Amino acid sequence: MDEGAAWTEDSSARFIELGAIYAPFREDIAGAVLGLIPAETDEGFLAVELGTGTGWLSAAILERFPRARVLGLDGSPAMLRMTAETLGRYSDRVDLQRFRLEDPDRLASLAGRARCVVSSLVIHHLDGTGKRALYREVRERLEPGGALLIADIVAPASERERRYVAERYDGMVRRRSLAVNGNLEAYRRFLDDEWNWFRYPDPMDKPSTIPEHLRWLQEAGLTGVNVFWQRAGHAVYGGYAPL
Ligand SMILES: C[S@@+](CC[C@H](N)C(=O)[O-])C[C@H]1O[C@@H](n2cnc3c(N)ncnc32)[C@H](O)[C@@H]1O
Repeated sequence: MDEGAAWTEDSSARFIELGAIYAPFREDIAGAVLGLIPAETDEGFLAVELGTGTGWLSAAILERFPRARVLGLDGSPAMLRMTAETLGRYSDRVDLQRFRLEDPDRLASLAGRARCVVSSLVIHHLDGTGKRALYREVRERLEPGGALLIADIVAPASERERRYVAERYDGMVRRRSLAVNGNLEAYRRFLDDEWNWFRYPDPMDKPSTIPEHLRWLQEAGLTGVNVFWQRAGHAVYGGYAPL
């Protein structure tokens, strides 16, 4: 995964160190995803996470659902090592594998069907055609009633919205830096790294607008398609396979 305008091991190292500040919405995302997974707390089921990163979202699922298993996929060896560390205490319910998001066989290792496929801040690496194809593929891999739940950055629909969202996102990271570290060092690195996509568009990031996502999810045959949470250019959206 070390090619041209793509996520690299250097990106992984930076995100492992500062992701909790650069992406200051983890509690909201986890709350939405956990609340929307179509399962009772004591049910056994398979959850798939695309792009586990440090593994915080899979950890939240395994903690909330003590009989759930997770198939965690990521393209970065460094991230997979971090995920394994984070999920150490749940290791008997976890299978981690390397995958490439752009690979048409990316879900080939999924034996059977999943109750949910979740992903946070990953799918925007695909262009519109790629996201559309992925939504169709995931729909085929879900159990009846299963959910596709995505947290990601979303493209603004106007220049005015882009400027508003860019400022909101900076403000959230600034507050998070102060709250977590008691200083603005991480926020300054966020600015120096030009991480705010809404100010510094990067060719490896190809976010789509909310209406596009909703249309592609519906076209894939999902029901109950909606935006479940949204803030500062980040959103949780998805839908359910018909029963
Ligand atoms: C911004 S991080 C998000 C990580 C985590 N889900 C989170 O919310 O903190 C993006 C993750 O996607 C993975 N990734 C990026 N591009 C990828 C690709 N083309 N194929 C597979 N994994 C990829 C990276 O290794 C990284 O773990």
